Amino acid sequence: MPYRFTDLLPEDFSDSALRADVRKGLTARPKQLPPKWFYDKTGSELFEEITRLPEYYQTRSERAILQAGAARIVASAGARHLVELGSGSSEKTRLLLDHLRAPGSVYTALDVSGSALRQAAEALGVTYPDLRIEAVRADFEQHLPTVLGDGLTGRGRGGRLVVFLGGTIGNLQPAERAAFLAGVRAGLDPGDAFLLGADLVKSPDVLIPAYDDAAGVTAAFNLNLLQVLNSRLGADFDPDDFTHRAVWDESQAWIEMRLRAGRRVEVRLAELDLVAEFEAGEELRTEISAKFTAGRLESELTAAGFAADGWWTDPDGQFSLSMWRPA
Ligand code: SAH
Ligand code: AVI
Repeated sequence: MPYRFTDLLPEDFSDSALRADVRKGLTARPKQLPPKWFYDKTGSELFEEITRLPEYYQTRSERAILQAGAARIVASAGARHLVELGSGSSEKTRLLLDHLRAPGSVYTALDVSGSALRQAAEALGVTYPDLRIEAVRADFEQHLPTVLGDGLTGRGRGGRLVVFLGGTIGNLQPAERAAFLAGVRAGLDPGDAFLLGADLVKSPDVLIPAYDDAAGVTAAFNLNLLQVLNSRLGADFDPDDFTHRAVWDESQAWIEMRLRAGRRVEVRLAELDLVAEFEAGEELRTEISAKFTAGRLESELTAAGFAADGWWTDPDGQFSLSMWRPA
């Protein structure tokens, strides 16, 4: 069955929203940018490369949990419609789709990256010829009411399993995370469920290499953000002026990815009519990746109106999957 592609992002999304984020972020102190801009075609490909790195345990750990539990998860959710937020390549999702067997089953993949969505949907169509595949280019921080709340994913009949894998929840700031969880909850009806992949707190000896790997792939992923700004906003960043840094913030329980200026740099962003100045050693925060405990997840999801319905970790206790229902 050919997939359907729905684009909820305005034609100029990568211009207008990017411009607003960059103007705000580069004039803030400390400077920071939201991580969704990593994922142009090159960024999405580099992320896939990260998932195969020996240091990046997260994808392997989550896959191990799914390999062991996907059949039970899909059955206990009574799922007929899988809605995935931030679906990327949808590779691990296959372990869930293998059990989505009821006639008329649907998979809705939502991502900001049109290239990742199209590539994933085409490949899935070959493996699952009877599955209805909906690819939705959208921002899960803006479009949950449209995606979950109206006709797009068949609200009101139950049987929808909304999944948010990979630990992407950790890339949201605490206030954004609370708003996101409230948005998912508001879109769920009795009979729907939410499956969440979240990375767990662990030693910085494991965390730092996962975000600063020996082959330099994460550094390339981080630095690619500067190329995104160069190509989309006519900026003149020289990536050689910056180095990749990964820092564990114990008090916040999150990794920060940063780009540090090696010398004083003045960057012109033609499309914004803006000049951003970096002092030597000044850092731009490009991502947080929060790590969780079971207790913290439980209190945040309970506060958002969910009730716990399942908890799984991999054999090494690195990563978690948890299932939630509307309370
Ligand atoms: N779920 C996949 C991919 C994780 S990478 C996995 O587990 O491997 C994070 C994905 O979220 C990327 O594909 C990125 O494009 C997408 N993403 C990031 N911010 C987003 C946003 N605000 N709205 C929609 N998708 C987003
Ligand atoms: C998508 N997200 C969960 C990844 C993470 O681990 O926070 C993005 C990433 N950043 C660096 N490496 C991978």
